[in-house]
Amino acid sequence: MGTWQKVGSVDDLADDAPLSVVVGDVEVGIYRVNGKLYAIEDVCPHQYALLTQGFVEGVNVECALHGAVFDITTGKCLKEPGGRDLRTYEVRENGGDVEILVE
Ligand code: FES
Repeated sequence: MGTWQKVGSVDDLADDAPLSVVVGDVEVGIYRVNGKLYAIEDVCPHQYALLTQGFVEGVNVECALHGAVFDITTGKCLKEPGGRDLRTYEVRENGGDVEILVE
């Protein structure tokens, strides 16, 4: 089931500027790609770097530290040294708020 938790406002989010939020004790990156919201783990699995501080290009985000690339829409690791796919989260816009489904 889970509950929807407000983590920010859509006004904080731009196509080229994702949002980093903390849900429970997990850092989550929220992106808007082609008008749709996506949420993925924000900490790169390789070493500690926030992917929201990396480079967004289309549906991909590249880690600023060593260049691992992930698909924002699926969490899939497309280029090493990412090491593994990212966890994805359900995210929605609700009356100007950005909400994440917390299990
Ligand atoms: S920390 Fe992200 S690629 Fe190394």
